Amino acid sequence: MNVSEAVAARRSVRAFLPTPVARNIVEKILDQARFSPSGGNVQPWNAVVVAGEPLQQLLRKVADGIAAGRTDSEYASYPDALPDPWMARRRQNAAELYGTLGIGRENREARHAQTARNWIGFDAPCIMFCHIPRFMGVAQWADLGIWLQTVMLLMEEAGLSTCAQGAWSHGGVTVREALGIADDHVLACGLAIGYADPDAIVNRLRTSRAPLEETVRFLGM
Ligand SMILES: Cc1cc2nc3c(=O)[nH]c(=O)nc-3n(C[C@H](O)[C@H](O)[C@H](O)COP(=O)(O)O)c2cc1C
Repeated sequence: MNVSEAVAARRSVRAFLPTPVARNIVEKILDQARFSPSGGNVQPWNAVVVAGEPLQQLLRKVADGIAAGRTDSEYASYPDALPDPWMARRRQNAAELYGTLGIGRENREARHAQTARNWIGFDAPCIMFCHIPRFMGVAQWADLGIWLQTVMLLMEEAGLSTCAQGAWSHGGVTVREALGIADDHVLACGLAIGYADPDAIVNRLRTSRAPLEETVRFLGM
């Protein structure tokens, strides 16, 4: 699989088989991803990869926190006011996801149930929780994102599927405490990792993109 093929094949998978993910595969990928670029080569990313019983224990803690009404979000996933075209793209994304699942606009219960699947990592047997020192700025958050995409493409090449999950920011404090991540770090996101369930309807989703002219201009060429 070359890079173009990995970019084209990668998509967010939201239903996984229970097949465990071997540590040596994940470790090799993360070892390769160390060579992602970052401003000043500061490499601001950190991660904890969790599977098996420790993952189940963590998910139980998060579920208990949610049931107790604990809201421990550490950063806003989106600006308070998100105008078009960005809001329109978000709406389109929701329409594509719920459309694939056959969930109508009015069915808030089913939509919430799908959202809540975030906090079981979509049943992935492995979740990588990414964190970054709290004082880092937007440039270092961008570095983390570049590294995350490197990881996702290498996973694709290895036959593993992923779903980046900003939703974990909502359980950020619970996850940090449970994993022993110091409070001078922010839980940036999770990455659900595993083998895609080929029969799951949700995995049929193919998201659209804005045309190139909407986001890029060329000058002098
Ligand atoms: C940083 C980041 C956070 C995301 N958070 C979530 C999330 O919490 N839950 C979810 O279902 N998808 C999440 N996604 C997946 C996006 O919805 C998905 O990338 C987008 O709709 C494009 O679809 P594709 O990944 O299948 O190409 C996230 C993606 C990124 C890059």
